Amino acid sequence: RPRVLSGIQPTAGSFHLGNYLGAVRQWVALQETHDAFYMVVDLHAITVPQDPKELRANTRLAVAQLLAAGLEPDRCTLFVQSHVPEHAQLAWVMNCLTGFGEASRMTQFKDKSAKQGADRASVGLFTYPVLQVADILLYQANEVPVGEDQRQHIELTRDLAERFNGRFGDTFTVPSAYILKETAKIYDLQDPSIKMSKSASTPKGLINLLDEPKATAKKVKSAVTDTDTVIRFDRENKPGVSNLLSIYSVLTGADIAELEEKYAGKGYGALKTDVAEVMVEFVTPFRDRTQQYLDDPETLDAILAKGAEKARSVAAETLARAYDMVGFLPAK
Ligand code: TYM
Repeated sequence: RPRVLSGIQPTAGSFHLGNYLGAVRQWVALQETHDAFYMVVDLHAITVPQDPKELRANTRLAVAQLLAAGLEPDRCTLFVQSHVPEHAQLAWVMNCLTGFGEASRMTQFKDKSAKQGADRASVGLFTYPVLQVADILLYQANEVPVGEDQRQHIELTRDLAERFNGRFGDTFTVPSAYILKETAKIYDLQDPSIKMSKSASTPKGLINLLDEPKATAKKVKSAVTDTDTVIRFDRENKPGVSNLLSIYSVLTGADIAELEEKYAGKGYGALKTDVAEVMVEFVTPFRDRTQQYLDDPETLDAILAKGAEKARSVAAETLARAYDMVGFLPAK
């Protein structure tokens, strides 16, 4: 079986619709066909200030949501990044192979550090992508299921894997990004020119999966469309309508052409009402399942303990090989 690896940050409150459609949904599908490793990236989370109590709670909440979304501990390896010390260890080696200019060109870093100001932004934020490189290479992943915003980090991973292999000898699998066109980028409901995100979106444009289903329906119904009335997929000229069509299409399995036909001659109100309905059908059981996992912390911890053990056995082997290739003296 080919191997996949991916990660998600433990954000406050809940995952948003972009996280789910862009990434987690694919994770669930890929556990059936691939040797799958999925993690909650708490080391990445502390690149910006975190309250310790909240970080712990958000990490648990993230795991509960991943299980609620359909990850099954018997079909994939689900773990927390900080439980596997090899991530930080390989990241150091990779930091030493990364150019300062190369790291400076990472667009997510540029955006985030510009927002925080150069003196506030941490060195950890600067080397964030290199830690992600280590995450992926430790598991010799063939594919990395993510949204479009992570593409540059996967490119860096490929570059560094090739650089290491070229300099020290064949060690790492060079991975590919696994990005589905239809869901690569889910847009803000109020401003369909930007991606849906916790930091950029206004509350009305952001669908949090754990919000009250009624509130979610309301947000969908007040999504920005355009002054035209035709329901047609056209990313360029009709970004709001296209975003709703993509969301509806993946949640129901109907293809876009089918939907265009279904809504021919109907207004935007009809489309929004239907999207709101499928969304409510999705989030209602999702919330209940998340709560069930949160109510049973022992089961959750047992799943994570098993996941960490499995992940470590793979990560330790790769790290030992990388250390050896670099020329570190083996500890006797
Ligand atoms: P994070 O936590 O920001 O996001 C998790 C996943 O959600 C995707 N995503 C979206 N997809 C489509 N439309 C959107 N509006 C949208 N917003 C977010 C992201 O692309 C991502 O796949 N750096 C990563 C976490 C990470 C990682 C890794 C990923 C750490 N190590 C190793 C893969 C492999 C991040 O911050 O994702």
